[in-house]
Amino acid sequence: MIKPTADDALLVRKRDLKNNYYSITFKPFTSAKKCKPGHFIQLQIPKTDIFFRRPMSIASVSSDGDIEVIFNVVGRGTKLLANLEKNDTVNILGPLGSSFSNPKKNEEVVIIAGGVGFPPLMYFATELVKSKFPAKQIHFFYGGRSKDDILEKSRIKKLGLNFYPITEDGTFGEKGLVTKPVERFINENEKSKLRIYSCGPTGMLKAANEIGKKYNIPGELSLEAPMPCGVGICLGCIVELEKGGHARVCAEGPVFQIGEVKL
Ligand SMILES: Cc1cc2nc3c(=O)[nH]c(=O)nc-3n(C[C@H](O)[C@H](O)[C@H](O)COP(=O)(O)OP(=O)(O)OC[C@H]3O[C@@H](n4cnc5c(N)ncnc54)[C@H](O)[C@@H]3O)c2cc1C
Ligand code: FES
Repeated sequence: MIKPTADDALLVRKRDLKNNYYSITFKPFTSAKKCKPGHFIQLQIPKTDIFFRRPMSIASVSSDGDIEVIFNVVGRGTKLLANLEKNDTVNILGPLGSSFSNPKKNEEVVIIAGGVGFPPLMYFATELVKSKFPAKQIHFFYGGRSKDDILEKSRIKKLGLNFYPITEDGTFGEKGLVTKPVERFINENEKSKLRIYSCGPTGMLKAANEIGKKYNIPGELSLEAPMPCGVGICLGCIVELEKGGHARVCAEGPVFQIGEVKL
């Protein structure tokens, strides 16, 4: 396990992605070089009485120590994060948890992203492309309720991968749920060469888990859970395992194998 650090970092960039989504970038994060796609950080909310840090997946890390998160405002902590301004200081604990493992050279990567589950998968796809993994072997299925829920479209497309947006109301990309185009893709391809990576709402994760098991396709799911401590101590984030017993999402996860966790 990587030893995390807790650093004060400056907010150097904030982007309003509309519809209550924000991207914020901090610098310097001294552990930036240790970060891998799938890892998360715990942000202390400054200037408040909020005691517990808020977990956020890493959306990108630059070689000179910039670290970005992308989030949706759902409650008090994320509202306060959205109100931060340039040069505000935030204490960042991380990197935490497990990360995605790399696909084999000849595998086709099937990414199933939804809602605010896309940032770690965008980071993963970016790093794969940087490592010279062929972009044409990456298939990025990104589902949302409506077109405004599909974020950073041009940034994802710029990676040169295969991008499949899907919206429930049909306002962008194919209409419906991601499961249908994903299953269609699986049936049109050699199943033994596929590997699934998913992060998103519980319904999507359950579907990705079921699809993996049904077609015998290996893969990984990144889970979310309430996380009081984020470092494996409080047991506030445990999930049940298929083989029996429990795991901590913050320590053994958030990335688990398909079929490993009872969803
Ligand atoms: C490993 C991990 C990575 C995450 N990455 C991201 C990310 O990249 N972007 C992002 O927007 N969010 C992410 N989240 C979720 C984020 O941590 C929560 O949305 C945030 O903590 C809510 O804080 P709050 O004070 O605004 O809301 P609260 O006031 O604490 O809660 C407001 C509402 O949101 C619900 N809620 C709180 N936490 C979660 C959660 N984890 N999942 C589902 N519902 C929740 C509460 O039940 C409540 O209904 C991640 C969570 C985990 C565990
Ligand atoms: S959040 Fe405390 S053990 Fe996982």
